[in-house]
Amino acid sequence: MNKYNNVFVVNHPLCCHNLSIIRNKATNAEVFRNAIRRITYLLFYKATEDLELEDVNIETPLEKCQSKMLKADKEIIIAPILRAGLIFSDIANEIMPFATVRHIGMYRDEETLTPVWYYNKIPVEFENPESKIILILDPMLATGNSAIESIKLFANKKVPQKNIRFVSLISAPEGLDNVQKYYPDVKIITASIDNCLNKHGYIRPGLGDAGDRIFNTVEN
Ligand code: URA
Repeated sequence: MNKYNNVFVVNHPLCCHNLSIIRNKATNAEVFRNAIRRITYLLFYKATEDLELEDVNIETPLEKCQSKMLKADKEIIIAPILRAGLIFSDIANEIMPFATVRHIGMYRDEETLTPVWYYNKIPVEFENPESKIILILDPMLATGNSAIESIKLFANKKVPQKNIRFVSLISAPEGLDNVQKYYPDVKIITASIDNCLNKHGYIRPGLGDAGDRIFNTVEN
């Protein structure tokens, strides 16, 4: 349980175990990436548990039967925020190979902590927005500013908030408050709500810079 209506913390024992691996500053990039991948499956179990199904008739090698498949009229869009979000998108695509992947390029201005756009693969015309299910991916939900910018992108194209999910590894309370203030019906799926942000906008205790640790660009 947490104080937010639409924030789901996946505190499965395997998430907790792997979170400790990635929080540890001694963990190297290869082990770091693999531990995140293991957590990703568990996050996506939660993020996709309410996808709608429809009845289908199929024939097994033994007999005809009724079964269920994902509703064909829904389009699932995976939207990783570059660059750290890429660590989630391979697995998202593996478990949902029919999904569309639309990258979002944003970096954080370190002075103002506001997001700066540099790439956006979202079409200008967005047909049937109510039939889209959007999974925005970013391992660190810190100030919430990039989350709000990326949600706005889809909300402005009339995708209902309830169809938008934000998947993160670690979230800061400040960022959750911020996102929930503007988009209360967007579901946030995370493995941890940490203590707070430091003055540079990093999550405490967190894990440092996720992108640098994933892509082995930590400068000592
Ligand atoms: N981005 C990161 O990679 N880490 C943080 O702690 C905050 C934002």
